[in-house]
Amino acid sequence: MKQDNRYGSLAAWVYDLDKPIGHSFGDIAFYHDRLRDCRGPILEPAVGNGRVFIPLLEQGLAMVGFDASEDMLARCRAHCRQRGLSAALSRQRFQDFYYAEPFAAIMVPAGSFQLLDFEQARITLQRFYQHLHPGGVLLLDLDAMGELIQDVSGLRSWPAGEDELLTLTASPPELDYLAQQSRTLLRYEHWVAGRLVLSELERFSLRWWGIQELSLLLEQLGFVDVRVYGDYRAEPPRPGCRLITLEARRPA
Ligand SMILES: C[S@@+](CC[C@H](N)C(=O)[O-])C[C@H]1O[C@@H](n2cnc3c(N)ncnc32)[C@H](O)[C@@H]1O
Repeated sequence: MKQDNRYGSLAAWVYDLDKPIGHSFGDIAFYHDRLRDCRGPILEPAVGNGRVFIPLLEQGLAMVGFDASEDMLARCRAHCRQRGLSAALSRQRFQDFYYAEPFAAIMVPAGSFQLLDFEQARITLQRFYQHLHPGGVLLLDLDAMGELIQDVSGLRSWPAGEDELLTLTASPPELDYLAQQSRTLLRYEHWVAGRLVLSELERFSLRWWGIQELSLLLEQLGFVDVRVYGDYRAEPPRPGCRLITLEARRPA
């Protein structure tokens, strides 16, 4: 098994049950607040099941999304259909996505950027830059390092229908301090009437970033006006804050 962070059929199902459309960590209101005056389309890479994308679309923002996982996209498309929304969604990856028209903003909530290793992240930031209008804004979330290295191994479960259960068993994280990555094995299982009907194993890796490290990289790639917010408040992070948002602009 080569690929990390695959988000296959059971992972997508669990994501949908655990983080349904509109489920907010404070991010939906924060992103809406910062982006509501955008003139032009807004891109959400790694759109997932549409947890944030769909509420923003419903609030009138011109959202466009892509995701590498067909299973996640299928869920997002189905949620849009159920709500009578037409959405511009495609299967693409951070590292090589392409659109002919630039965006007024690009937003990456839920720490999805941390699914990339350093080199993939660098290439992705270059693509973000190329896909922004002059003056366009990038907003990107990072989970604080403490969140990534803590051991959340064990079993979780979600009821999924009449006598049906989904379970997720996570291994303790393996920490690579050189690459700044935590790696976990995730075993997803689907049980019907106590019998195992499907099992999927995923290798999950997340990279932790220093705030200054990422700010410097953004500046090196040409971004300007880099700002940092904590816990979805319009103010700098305070000690102990768990979620960091970086904002940066392509020069006007
Ligand atoms: C934590 S979910 C975030 C979903 C959504 N943005 C949200 O805020 O709820 C991460 C998403 O990243 C997608 N993903 C993982 N690697 C990717 C890659 N290389 N390119 C694009 N999407 C990727 C996964 O398929 C998954 O849908």
